[in-house]
Amino acid sequence: MDQINYEEIKTLENGSKLIGELEFPKRKVWVKTYGCQMNYHDTERILTHLTPLNFTLTDTKEEADLLLFNTCAIRDLANQKFYSHLGESKHNKITNKEIKIAAGGCIAQTESKELLNKYPQLDFAFGTDVIDNIGEMVYRTYAGDKKFAVTSWDRSENYSIETQITHGSPQAFVNIIKGCDKFCSYCIVPFTRGREKSRSITEIVNDVARLVEHKGVQEVTLLGQNVNSFGKKNGESLAELITELDKIDDLKMIRYTTSHPYDISDELMAVHGTAKKLSNHLHLPVQSGSNTVLQRMLRQYSVEHYLDRLTKLREANPDIVISTDIIAGFPNETEEEHRATLDLLDKAQYDFIYSYNYSSRKGTKSARMKDILTNDIRGRRLREIQAYQLNIQADVRASMVGKTYRVLVESFGTKKGEKKWKGRTSCFRIVHFKAENDDVDLTWQWVNLKITSATALSCQGEIVQILGKR
Ligand code: SAH
Ligand code: SF4
Ligand code: F3S
Repeated sequence: MDQINYEEIKTLENGSKLIGELEFPKRKVWVKTYGCQMNYHDTERILTHLTPLNFTLTDTKEEADLLLFNTCAIRDLANQKFYSHLGESKHNKITNKEIKIAAGGCIAQTESKELLNKYPQLDFAFGTDVIDNIGEMVYRTYAGDKKFAVTSWDRSENYSIETQITHGSPQAFVNIIKGCDKFCSYCIVPFTRGREKSRSITEIVNDVARLVEHKGVQEVTLLGQNVNSFGKKNGESLAELITELDKIDDLKMIRYTTSHPYDISDELMAVHGTAKKLSNHLHLPVQSGSNTVLQRMLRQYSVEHYLDRLTKLREANPDIVISTDIIAGFPNETEEEHRATLDLLDKAQYDFIYSYNYSSRKGTKSARMKDILTNDIRGRRLREIQAYQLNIQADVRASMVGKTYRVLVESFGTKKGEKKWKGRTSCFRIVHFKAENDDVDLTWQWVNLKITSATALSCQGEIVQILGKR
């Protein structure tokens, strides 16, 4: 089947769906997603395509008819986790011969043939640019096609979609740009996600307005591997997009991720001061505090340029909170270069960091560099970076105590034996707090919270005022 006509799907008396000549009884799909928010959002999109094919989601592998792995290739650890889970799935095939198993996402984009050869239990593999055709692939597998791969790139000039959400929460991910043209020397993403392509501002604004009006969405996170390149090829920009989204009446919060420091424009930094709904948090990955390492990484900016961006952002919005990504032990990094990263942590005063050991990715430029660093050195440097940041973070967070923040409540649960609510500030910090009466459901309500204590890793608050759902 080239394309399923979803409008022609009939529901039979026995509850099955009739698609073409095939009957699709009620079935269950189990999904495991690895990697970044884009992948999680892709999974959501995949699930919306499977609903018309009579699939519902299960979190129990044993009761599933279809196992889907949405994979990530960013570091070796991500690959190993997936290979091990895929290996285990052969037992599911032994106990249930009818089960179908598929792998999609970033590993499948570049390694589909190897995966299909190596893992007999795998029925099909699909890449990152064909997820909207998952219905057709599932059809093919039930029609008897065996061990096929679909990894083609969408060749159309435009990137045009409508956001699909499966959850009832007021928080939604919205893709605005796909792919990456940066080719940082260590990174696999340009190979797994293809070239940059942006949606138009008009399409995104209409899309978000629809989500707000019809799906109860109040907070959007604009997604892309490099959102600061948004619109470049169409003469549009992220600053303009945010300014337009800021005008949508019932939208309460706009977040975006991930940014590349080279492309963050003066215009965008100014918008951090003017857009009322723009989050007070910015994730701005720096990768290293050494100019020579940044050059070897092909990051296109210097530490001085990066710090100047932070100063300008903080001038535009004094409440802004910054986080970052760091890679420890880039090939041949010297002790001096490593210490320059610790120095940068002092200067940047991040709220939190994600830090990783360098991982060599096949096909990237840095994988071809001769490298004298050992895993021991890398591990030690990573631990140093993390310990150093925790001290800084404790001070950065301590400055919150006594202040009041507006928080969107996300969930209720047990924390260290105590039942507490959990919410997130505009600046992305998670705050735990107790309510007078646990029977009142605060989920997705806005509350004003006064911070009563804050450590490097946890933040406690008390309710000042319950503001309600809007
Ligand atoms: N587009 C984002 C990053 C996406 S990948 C950006 O440019 O900042 C998320 C993070 O994974 C990166 O910021 C980097 O810190 C890390 N990363 C990417 N490739 C890596 C590799 N080969 N080894 C270790 N960490 C890596
Ligand atoms: Fe990877 Fe660099 Fe693109 Fe980020 S900007 S996805 S690190 S190539
Ligand atoms: Fe991983 Fe692909 Fe995202 S490699 S980080 S899932 S773009």
